[in-house]
Amino acid sequence: MNITIIYPHKRKTKSSTYGIAQMVLDRLLSGGTLHEFYLPQDMPHVCAGCYACMNGREDKCGGHEYMQKLIAAIDDSELIIFCAPTYVYHIPGQVKTLLDHFAYRWLVHRPDLSLMCKQALIITTAAGGGMKSTVRDLRDSMNYWGIGRTNVITQAVWGYDWS
Ligand SMILES: Cc1cc2nc3c(=O)[nH]c(=O)nc-3n(C[C@H](O)[C@H](O)[C@H](O)COP(=O)(O)O)c2cc1C
Repeated sequence: MNITIIYPHKRKTKSSTYGIAQMVLDRLLSGGTLHEFYLPQDMPHVCAGCYACMNGREDKCGGHEYMQKLIAAIDDSELIIFCAPTYVYHIPGQVKTLLDHFAYRWLVHRPDLSLMCKQALIITTAAGGGMKSTVRDLRDSMNYWGIGRTNVITQAVWGYDWS
């Protein structure tokens, strides 16, 4: 299947969310297209609260060129994977920055019903605590994007090195 995956950083071999994601991709990608995004590089723009997107002028947003690539990848995917380690009991700030740019696409604003045919997977790890609230941060957005089904993998790792 075609998959869009969003990583919160460029750590690979030492990252537990990356390690879990590779196990999932090994099982599910099976010849499909993989769209990979690394934060914050692939969404460096922080929402300025200008409301251009809410008013149908999302091309005026400083994050527009990044959003176009993300939306094209999501349109082409059946599954969207978020790697979201717990940072101070919540998603990393760079993931929240990305989610803020999708606010105008929430069901209550500008629904995209094609998202109802897609699934999401949230991969969350923590040294010990805070995964519930971290997952909730992302699940709220998946619900309000209108994603058909949101799946979750959580794992306490008691450290910061996948090995
Ligand atoms: C800035 C920062 C904040 C963190 N906050 C928490 C926390 O609130 N609770 C916790 O159990 N672990 C916390 N951790 C540890 C990570 O959640 C944990 O090591 C996670 O497995 C890292 O995933 P990764 O290897 O994919 O980056 C924090 C790590 C960082 C860098």
